[in-house]
Amino acid sequence: MCGIIAYAGPRSAVNLLIDGLHRLEYRGYDSAGLAVQGSRGELQVEKRVGRVIELERAIGPEIKGTTGIAHTRWATHGGVTRENCHPHLDSLQRIAVVHNGIIENMGPLKARLLSEGVRFRSETDTEVIVHLIAHFYDGMGALGDSVSPDVAGDPVVALRSALARLRGTWGLAVLFADHPGVVFAARNGSPLVVGLGDGETFLASDPHALTPHTRRVVFLQDGELARIDSAGVQTFRIDGVTSKHKVDTLAEEWGDSELGEFPHYMLKEIHDQPEALRQCLGGRLVPEDGTARLGGLDLGPRELVKLPHVALMGCGTAYHACLVGAGAIEALARIPARAEIASEHRNRNPVIDPEALYFAVSQSGETADTHGAVKEVQVKGGQVMGVVNVVGSSIARACGRGVYIHSGPEMAVASTKAFSNMVAALLLFALQLGRARAMSPHAGKELALALQDVPNRVARYLAQPGPIEEMVRAVVGAKMVLFLGRGGSAAVAAEGALKLMEVAYIPCVAYPSGEMKHGPIALLEKGSPVVVIAPDDELKDKTLSNLQECRARGARVLLIHTEGDLEAAALADVAIAVPRCHPLLSPLLTVLPLQLLAYRAGLALGRDIDRPRNLAKSVTVE
Ligand code: F6R
Repeated sequence: MCGIIAYAGPRSAVNLLIDGLHRLEYRGYDSAGLAVQGSRGELQVEKRVGRVIELERAIGPEIKGTTGIAHTRWATHGGVTRENCHPHLDSLQRIAVVHNGIIENMGPLKARLLSEGVRFRSETDTEVIVHLIAHFYDGMGALGDSVSPDVAGDPVVALRSALARLRGTWGLAVLFADHPGVVFAARNGSPLVVGLGDGETFLASDPHALTPHTRRVVFLQDGELARIDSAGVQTFRIDGVTSKHKVDTLAEEWGDSELGEFPHYMLKEIHDQPEALRQCLGGRLVPEDGTARLGGLDLGPRELVKLPHVALMGCGTAYHACLVGAGAIEALARIPARAEIASEHRNRNPVIDPEALYFAVSQSGETADTHGAVKEVQVKGGQVMGVVNVVGSSIARACGRGVYIHSGPEMAVASTKAFSNMVAALLLFALQLGRARAMSPHAGKELALALQDVPNRVARYLAQPGPIEEMVRAVVGAKMVLFLGRGGSAAVAAEGALKLMEVAYIPCVAYPSGEMKHGPIALLEKGSPVVVIAPDDELKDKTLSNLQECRARGARVLLIHTEGDLEAAALADVAIAVPRCHPLLSPLLTVLPLQLLAYRAGLALGRDIDRPRNLAKSVTVE
């Protein structure tokens, strides 16, 4: 989704901004632009629809300076056009703004500005912000308010006055031609982090853009404004009072954000999974006691036994991990656990039990819907813990306590290794909770040892993935692909369908197998591909009955089954075996061929694998 990078310091800003935009590309975007202050402070702007490389090629040698702001846009208000690209300028071209987020009261504000003679050049909500700032900057008392003329020309007052009239979310970086060498910033619901260098300062919406330059950072808080120059940062509250800020150090992460020998991040990240799982499980399993310890939760057995139930909230792939986690918690701890789509949870005025435990599950830690769900639980007195990949992200900080899943940087838009590590983290919790309740030491030890070995089994599968290409041939020309599974495998079916849709753009439908006969069976005709996930567990026989029902209607069955289960394999048109494992861990193995299927199908159809159309890596709008 939209990305921001800004720089103030002694170096040439253009290269640093372009490099920063490249580091934000993985988030998904459709256009890019930048503004750099010239030698007299004047604002030089370039923007392009398409890739950052196209912007880079368009920047002429005349654009130079040492202070600038830049942006990758993911269209919300207005089409993907050059006019709608950020930065946006005020009428006199003295103020430039880049913006992440959505202004909800754009309509009435724009109407008032139009009535006062302002001419708009774009369809964006962001342009409303820059004209609003300009009105206050001129001391004009925009929109009928009066502003004292003696504060005209004060950028912080102009920003505060404008922000006070906005409703919605923003991460803003602003340049004023009259204030060379300074970037102004404001945050409300859309992340911004300041990077403190040696005689230079950066601003970004994602710490990943800062790590080549510095690991000393200040996370801006909601409602805060900042003034950034080469010497550092000053922060203010919206009422103008200077606020104190904390300097954090970004931890070194395992793993590489470079492609290495792989042609795509998605493939690299699929192959990262054995090591990613080791990073997540390492130091958290206690096989001798048959349990796990998640220090970041800071919950002892006395607190765990009192939990009446657990609720897990996430979106997309993270929601699928929640489904697996909820099943494991119920199975091992014998207390109710439910997974819920975060956007539904936040908006349905949920009943919150202050005694229960809520988890917010998110790779990026920035998903607006999940963040909103966290706030809703907290407002109602509930306890939320994060299950998050990105250290220091908004959700991690809002929760305060939780589990980092340690996947390493996930750059492909389609989430793969984060799914596995979310599942692994939730399985660790289920084991810890299960042991604090009724689970026996023997059963605990068995699961702990199985978890310890799971990275090896994942590696063994990935070394010999089976006839993926045969499955690809069956799905690439299909009108629709049906995915079926039961229990944890129903969540894997949903995840496999999501991956194939987002990477290959093939319509997919996922259903718990038992539901098939209640509707989706009507879709089946001769040759329809049906992906069945049927590991050798207590639900297998029922799933195989559904498989037979599909065969009876002429469907082409693509089966994911357990190694050595020849009886199941014999029922399929194409069968892919995954290593045998503890039944609760099977999602960590059965998801692998589905990730490869999506990748290979996307490749066969010539899709943009790492940046599928219309999608964003981190969905920071509601
Ligand atoms: C699918 C995918 C999305 C994300 C969803 C939540 O491959 O990447 O469905 O899973 O947008 O993102 P996070 O986990 O960052 O909250």
